[in-house]
Amino acid sequence: MINWEELKHIHVIRKLDEILSSWFNTAILISDGHGTIYNHKKGQKSDTKNLLCQLVLQSPGGHEILENYTTQVCGKFATNDKSIDIVDGPLPNTKAIFAKVKIDNEFLGAVVAWPFLPAELTSADKTALKKAVVALGINANDVEKAVEGLKAIGDGNVRYMQELVQLVSQEIETFHQEITTREDRINALNKELGTRYRYDSMIGKSKPMQDVYSLLDKIKTSDSTVMISGENGTGKELIAKAIHFNSPRKDKAVLIVNCSAFNENLLDSELFGHVKGAFTGAVKDKKGLFEAADKGTIFLDEIGDMSPTMQVKLLRVLQEGTILPVGATESRKVDVRVLTATNKDLKQMVEDGTFREDLYYRINVINVHVPALRDRKEDIPLLVEHFITKGCQEKGIPQKRLAKRAMEKVFDYGWPGNVRELQNEMERLLVLSSEDPMIAADLLSPRIRDFGEHTKVQGVRVAGKLKDALEELEKTMIKEGLKRTNWNKSRLAKELGISRAGLIMKVEKYGLDKRRIAMAAAAAAAGDKTPADENDFYEDDGGDDLEKVG
Ligand SMILES: Nc1ncnc2c1ncn2[C@@H]1O[C@H](COP(=O)(O)OP(=O)(O)OP(=O)(O)O)[C@@H](O)[C@H]1O
Ligand SMILES: [Mg+2]
Repeated sequence: MINWEELKHIHVIRKLDEILSSWFNTAILISDGHGTIYNHKKGQKSDTKNLLCQLVLQSPGGHEILENYTTQVCGKFATNDKSIDIVDGPLPNTKAIFAKVKIDNEFLGAVVAWPFLPAELTSADKTALKKAVVALGINANDVEKAVEGLKAIGDGNVRYMQELVQLVSQEIETFHQEITTREDRINALNKELGTRYRYDSMIGKSKPMQDVYSLLDKIKTSDSTVMISGENGTGKELIAKAIHFNSPRKDKAVLIVNCSAFNENLLDSELFGHVKGAFTGAVKDKKGLFEAADKGTIFLDEIGDMSPTMQVKLLRVLQEGTILPVGATESRKVDVRVLTATNKDLKQMVEDGTFREDLYYRINVINVHVPALRDRKEDIPLLVEHFITKGCQEKGIPQKRLAKRAMEKVFDYGWPGNVRELQNEMERLLVLSSEDPMIAADLLSPRIRDFGEHTKVQGVRVAGKLKDALEELEKTMIKEGLKRTNWNKSRLAKELGISRAGLIMKVEKYGLDKRRIAMAAAAAAAGDKTPADENDFYEDDGGDDLEKVG
């Protein structure tokens, strides 16, 4: 149920592991409820910095010793209601901290911080420990170094440790909840998927795209002008081409003109042509695009950038079907279907007086609105596969695919640049992943890889005073948590596993409740005497709040 394999990639968990290792020289074992350890695999090199744990894991039968141990402690904790405790370690005279991972109140796994030594350890105890480790077949010199490196930890510091270990288990719970929510969402979205997954070269089977497809079907045979609107990179040009190639005009030309790429005079002669001598450099007659596209289609991209004069000329083509080349005295008849596109709000431009109202209604007979990628996320996996397959075929390399975690990141990202941005990212990944058939999340552009990470704790320092590091971590978690829960302290306190009063004291201590002050001031100004959290200080006694010692 919990995706244990993924946990080692979680930033906060890695950071907490780092802190526990650098401050207490202890290792973290993460197991499921049956005691199976997931973050140190049998026969694989372990990345723990704790030498004793490393040696034990490498020794013959060492992994079994640890796993038997976690199995046994999990068995014991399955039946008691403690969520965290200090327990004896798997080797004599060592200690461990055991914290439960619970989802919906069900005991699903454990975080065990091992090893450390009790403060009251005697040298005889230490010798006994060394002996026991040597008996596992580990080199005596290594054992000496490993055991001497262990920390003896007294009451005060054990509390810090417990707090950190508990944070690890809470992060696992949060991570699992996030995944579940996302999976629910993907499932819900998948239910809405239509049957058609492409229209010409357009890919997408989301409901919004199905709507676009059926609109395109309807206008197939018509000759009316179509305005295509949508954000950058949503596929407006693809749609324009699809409209043309599905119309009776498909065997004639489709010409694409980007109106913002020309100044007024150039666009004029480009679209409508000119006669010899119309201006310096006009050495002979030149046909404009409207004539070249006769019986075909012309696609005017970025129509919102057309100057007022050009707007008038375009209006004439649309109303009378005639054009007037620059310098010409007689107009000519043309038969062209006009498609336009814009990512501007033309309606607003009409209101502001920068776009002609009559032209607006003339070009906006039919409006195809292309939904932004973030509004049809269910198309993302399909698009990813499409671009990767296409890229691999073009390069003549074997088919690749995104690792699950990379796909999740891609799914979560906001894609302000829409399909074009996604396409560029996939092309980039194909280059970066070289021979590897599986594209890992690390290769994603930082903005995509780190998207949403601000809700997690970043950059915990691992040098300096432990107390400061913990306070920094605590402050960041509370600050981000307050934002996330919209200042719902009861909920946040629950999430953080501390009492509400405890949380409030910390909020005060770190001066985090600026909003409360602002709200109180606003409420007072509005004549409301009771700010939302008036009674905060009079509830609970803060008893279960871990007080910092040391
Ligand atoms: N639904 C889609 N399926 C496959 N490829 C798509 C899709 N939508 C867009 N693309 C690709 O994304 C890129 C951008 O598309 P296009 O140029 O049509 O967008 P646009 O809306 O005209 O962008 P802009 O506003 O920047 O002009 C193109 O390479 C296009 O092939
Ligand atoms: Mg375009």
